[in-house]
Amino acid sequence: MNRRSLLLGAVALAFSGLAFAADPIIIKFSHVVAQDTPKGKAAEYFKKLAEERTKGRVKVEVYPNSQLYKDKEEMEALQLGAVQMLAPSLAKFGPLGAKEFEVFDLPYIFDNYAELHKVTQGPIGASLLARLDSKGIKGLSFWDNGFKNFSANKPLKSPADFRGLKMRIQSSKVLDAEMRSLGANPQVMAFSEVYQALQTGVVDGTENPNSNFYTQKMHEVQKYLTVSEHGYLGYAVIVNKKFWENLPADVRTQLEGAMKDATKYANDIAKSENDADLENVRKSGKTQILTLSADEKKALRKAMIPVHRQMEERIGRDLIQAIYKETGFNPN
Ligand code: LMR
Repeated sequence: MNRRSLLLGAVALAFSGLAFAADPIIIKFSHVVAQDTPKGKAAEYFKKLAEERTKGRVKVEVYPNSQLYKDKEEMEALQLGAVQMLAPSLAKFGPLGAKEFEVFDLPYIFDNYAELHKVTQGPIGASLLARLDSKGIKGLSFWDNGFKNFSANKPLKSPADFRGLKMRIQSSKVLDAEMRSLGANPQVMAFSEVYQALQTGVVDGTENPNSNFYTQKMHEVQKYLTVSEHGYLGYAVIVNKKFWENLPADVRTQLEGAMKDATKYANDIAKSENDADLENVRKSGKTQILTLSADEKKALRKAMIPVHRQMEERIGRDLIQAIYKETGFNPN
């Protein structure tokens, strides 16, 4: 090799090195809800912070509304490295072999966000996230959505009203037991398919936080919504573990900071977003909003509470008891 080609080779190498250094690290963040929801907004906020703080070394591409993947597929895509970040609902970790996450689906286990945060933002939450390590997943954070309400084309006020109804649920076995405790027939279905299933009568009703109900336009196809607040729906933000561990250390630290702030933002807006969407449903005039008397609430609770005992073996009695202790929950 003569001097000239050596020189050219060196220049080419230097340029390829430069091009490499300038290539941003891409984080594909896939989720299944609309942008105008607590999760959708928090994902956008994380993108903004991550890109600002890494000065463009990281680019976050957010794909909302099941654009890239539906519920089950997105978990597989994360493990394969086709996407880097997700925030699936805690009811969707069972198929990963992390059944403990279904503890959040137990009816009435949290009375309000303050009780919930003792768990998600405390040592129990941290130990749950750490259990994902063995699945090739790193759990970063818990993001709130809210408390679920039942809906159908008939008023749902007492357990008898649920008998024989086909009710869409997420993949959690706890939710299956919850619906059965009311005499309903649970049907597992991907979130992206729910509107059409309600419209065509494939299912009769479902349960949602108001933000999901309204932004998926379920008020167009459900005549009644009962403010039951019988259970919680929230998220764990997760990343492909190998991807996360291979990030340059300074970038990872910046992203951790962005995630911390995005978590605060998500959990600050979740309640007001859900309250506002209940008002939006009311204003639409399409769905009648039903409230429950104290006796009606008691009867629903009494029907569903036995699910806690039934699910002990699946979730772990110790975990359920630890949460009771943390929140002061009394099943009686
Ligand atoms: C659902 O499937 O109902 C929810 O998990 C959707 C979501 O991500 O909030």
